[in-house]
Amino acid sequence: MNNHLSKVDGKALRMIRLIAREADRRGMAAYVVGGIVRDILLKRENYDLDFVIEGDAIRLARALAGPLNARLTAHGSFGTAVLKLPSGQRIDLAVTRKETYRHSGALPVVSPGTMQDDLLRRDFTINAMAIAVNRGRFGQLIDICGGRKDLLSKKIRILHAQSFMDDPTRIARAVRFEQRFGFGIERRTLTLLKECVRKKATQNVKAQRHFNELKKILCEPDPVRPLQRLHQLGWIPVLPAGTKVSFAGLRRLQTRVRKLGKMPWYNTFEQWWLIKFMVLIAQCTEHVVNGILSGIHIAKHERQSILQSRQIRHLGRKLSTQDLPASQIYQMLKSFTKEAIVYLRATASQEVVAQRIDRYLQRDMDMRLRINGDDLKKMGMVPGSKIGKVLEQVLCLKIDNKVKSKDDELKWAKLCLAES
Ligand code: CTP
Repeated sequence: MNNHLSKVDGKALRMIRLIAREADRRGMAAYVVGGIVRDILLKRENYDLDFVIEGDAIRLARALAGPLNARLTAHGSFGTAVLKLPSGQRIDLAVTRKETYRHSGALPVVSPGTMQDDLLRRDFTINAMAIAVNRGRFGQLIDICGGRKDLLSKKIRILHAQSFMDDPTRIARAVRFEQRFGFGIERRTLTLLKECVRKKATQNVKAQRHFNELKKILCEPDPVRPLQRLHQLGWIPVLPAGTKVSFAGLRRLQTRVRKLGKMPWYNTFEQWWLIKFMVLIAQCTEHVVNGILSGIHIAKHERQSILQSRQIRHLGRKLSTQDLPASQIYQMLKSFTKEAIVYLRATASQEVVAQRIDRYLQRDMDMRLRINGDDLKKMGMVPGSKIGKVLEQVLCLKIDNKVKSKDDELKWAKLCLAES
């Protein structure tokens, strides 16, 4: 028997063995399943460990939380548990289950099922494989849908004709995997996918679920190809039909993002998907953007950044004017979120604008004074809004390199006060 886990890297393998030992002790059959199996066979890195268990997955997860020093979140009604390791890694454990759909686009109704049911409920053959981890079966591949053959022939294939109608989010998934791996969508699968688009079954799904898939596409190393392919197929998640998308703009952005990702400050920026989303909807009217945002849950800060990305683009011209002191640039940018500013940086065509934004993000944005309001009160200033104004004036001087030491700051504060 071929051990399909023999090539898994040391850390993941230790984790798998630990979970397997605990499952053996409790007499439960355990399998790694889904994306990780596909990626093991493709020899690609994958950090998501998904397990299915024939037995009480939550009880098993509870027993593992201590030894792994992990935080446990369990959903009793679904029989699923997530272990969050101190390193940030996630391990998902779920009881093997069957899923049925009451109507197209509905969330599935879940009931206990066999290992076979659990594979048959999945999206594509390449994602419907498992590897056993128990003693005596460790590393054994379970492939009842022909996933391995499709991996070899580079095909994305659904498991049954209703698959896209049951869960239209699979349209975006099919395209994402097709483009990520350089595969092709199998002929019948493509016909059914197109039929699902034509029947507008995508409208049966809550916008949030489509948005989750769109976000995954935006997080791909090259999101432009899947987006273009979806556009060609007649539907892009979340975007209303007929929305204009500038693929040239997205491609330009992709090149910039790659370059910026190597530069100081930007190399620790994590919200690139949001910048790509801003560019994707850049040509939408305000009404359309508000409609999109009303259907999805995103963090307040992300929502604010998206709305600001539409205002900040008008700053490009102002930021390119000659002889602009750094303090004026600071005043122009300070009310915008850093994501909105990165959007402007990544889409700006003029070098001078790029340089000015770089300086703002890398230096001036976090510039602080050594003095504070208490120092000014000690100098006899009456508490009130004036204190804030004086501090702001001194900060601007510091940004323009006119103030160095704490004594300088105090001296300038006195002068500003006398002038005001
Ligand atoms: N799945 C499915 N139908 C969906 C979403 C997920 O059948 N609409 C199944 C697939 O078997 C998939 C697994 O759930 O492999 C895990 O889903 P997800 O984490 O979204 O995808 P991965 O395959 O792990 O892909 P990625 O490499 O992008 O994480």
